[in-house]
Amino acid sequence: MTRLELDGARFLSTGQLILLREISSLSASLNMPVFLVGGCVRDYFLKTPAKDLDIIVEGDAIRLGEALVEKFGGHLIAHSKFHTAIWELPETPGQATDSIDLITARTESYEHPGALPVVKPASIEDDLQRRDFTINAMAVRLDQDRFGELIDPFDGRLDLEKKRIRILHPRSFLDDPTRIFRAIRYECRYSFEIESGTLELINSESIGVISKISGERIRHELDLILEEVSSLAMIIRAGDLGVFKGIHSKLPLFNKEFVDLLEMDLTLDIPADRVAMGYMLWLLDLPEDAILSIGRRLDFSSELTHSVWAVAQLKKSLPFLVNSKPSIWTYALEKLPLLSIYVVFLVSGERALLNYISLWRHVKPFTTGDVLKSHGLPPGPRYAEILTSLKSAWLDGEVKSEKEEEELLQTLL
Ligand code: CTP
Repeated sequence: MTRLELDGARFLSTGQLILLREISSLSASLNMPVFLVGGCVRDYFLKTPAKDLDIIVEGDAIRLGEALVEKFGGHLIAHSKFHTAIWELPETPGQATDSIDLITARTESYEHPGALPVVKPASIEDDLQRRDFTINAMAVRLDQDRFGELIDPFDGRLDLEKKRIRILHPRSFLDDPTRIFRAIRYECRYSFEIESGTLELINSESIGVISKISGERIRHELDLILEEVSSLAMIIRAGDLGVFKGIHSKLPLFNKEFVDLLEMDLTLDIPADRVAMGYMLWLLDLPEDAILSIGRRLDFSSELTHSVWAVAQLKKSLPFLVNSKPSIWTYALEKLPLLSIYVVFLVSGERALLNYISLWRHVKPFTTGDVLKSHGLPPGPRYAEILTSLKSAWLDGEVKSEKEEEELLQTLL
């Protein structure tokens, strides 16, 4: 029996370790064995610090959660349908973990391919069996006298050493085709390979089931991919494996020329949004109707659909704007989302777009509506016309000081 050194400095922070010990002793008093499971066990072997702590309880996760809240405080969000709970820890300064997932060990069955699972409480072995890949189907016992014992029924540890992604049974992708996205994510993230038997099961049958699952579930997987460091390599791999056919008939392959463009220049004072930028780079050459239809399929927010649409429109109008005066650029760009403009700059290298983002959009004349009023100008459309003329004059370098603006204003009044 392998026993893991959970105290190993790099894996768990001291705070996390203390927490696990507390959970371990409380669950012993309730007579409920507990296990650390899934991604954090995988990360232990990969020597990366544990992100989330997922705890499996043989018994009743919600009861354990209630006991933890009673003893240590914090707040419990219980999902009785799934027998799970999230324990939101009481706030302490500098803590690395702010919540812990508590899950009752369970079996899952699927009424039809792609359906959400029906769950029933079960043993840890059953629970590991319902999981996606061998590398995610390991558990570590946390009960006091067996603290650190590894449970690895599918040789996940060996697959980690051999750097391979392997499903546990041939129906895995049919039960849950979101696992196809997960396989690609782990493969590219860790530079592993999807093992050949598993790769064969990413085929027209399992990809066909993707078309039956909700846009929200698919978009969640795509969002997770776009948050990753090697996200675009993952999108390209998914396209090469034919996965997009299950999402939408018009979803294009990712343009490989854009693969290095997802890094945001943070000095530009634009709210960074890697995920939105990923969709923009992916869909920017599509016609309007395809963007709208894909947006509906993937349950995009109206804001995201608008941003992607704006990228496509702006890219198409660039030839008509090139060599225009700054004022023309500014009025053409003013109503578009900044991030869309930035993405078109990335793919086109058009300096005017960067000038707009960093300079032109901030230009304002000294004159305001109140100043015009104090000159006795009667209310009406002249206000906007005069202010626009003054702004254009600044943008196009026709006035360069407050005095020159004042002189121009006198000619306009
Ligand atoms: N899981 C699964 N099938 C899914 C999603 C999740 O079997 N479609 C299981 C896996 O065992 C996984 C665990 O649930 O390890 C937790 O899922 P998640 O939090 O999404 O992944 P992590 O393993 O934590 O990995 P990461 O977030 O780093 O991708």
